[in-house]
Amino acid sequence: MKLFSRILASTAFVALASTAVFAEGEAQDPTVKARMELMKSVGAAAKTLGGMAGDKAPFDAAAAEAAKAAMIAAAAEIPARFEPQASDPASEAKPEIWSNWEDFVAKGAALKAAAEAMDASTLEGVKAGMGAVGGTCKECHTTYRM
Ligand code: HEC
Repeated sequence: MKLFSRILASTAFVALASTAVFAEGEAQDPTVKARMELMKSVGAAAKTLGGMAGDKAPFDAAAAEAAKAAMIAAAAEIPARFEPQASDPASEAKPEIWSNWEDFVAKGAALKAAAEAMDASTLEGVKAGMGAVGGTCKECHTTYRM
């Protein structure tokens, strides 16, 4: 009996621990995983550009142009990757995305337009451009990300 309850307790612990891992980390649903990967690439491009804009990294025109291109490409993918309303405990997507779909798509297009408008050939251009780009991230996250 004692052994049994110990097994029970350890099973409960494992279940609890894995729930915590899922909640904070990797999504299991492939559709959710793909859209989170897409956002991670947006985040990576923003980190490269933001590092230069904030004088935390030296300006590198080739790297800035590459990050800009990656951001535009990722932004263009937003509607396709988010359209299926998949869910996962690790997801931070709000259901309002699908009830306000047109608005969500418009906010994705705003990111794409801001990235396209950025002059990545100069540090001044990246600084000015990242202000606008950052605003579009915030606009969408405030409404559609938990
Ligand atoms: C059109 C809306 C929209 C725009 C614009 C947008 N995001 Fe997101 N972002 C989301 C949503 C929704 C999620 C949550 C997705 C999920 O968890 O299923 C998210 C999640 C993320 C994540 C977490 C990814 C992960 O690992 O779970 C990062 C990082 C991120 N966004 C960065 C950015 C940055 C940086 C920008 C701007 C350059 C940006 N996003 C612009 C909607 C947007």
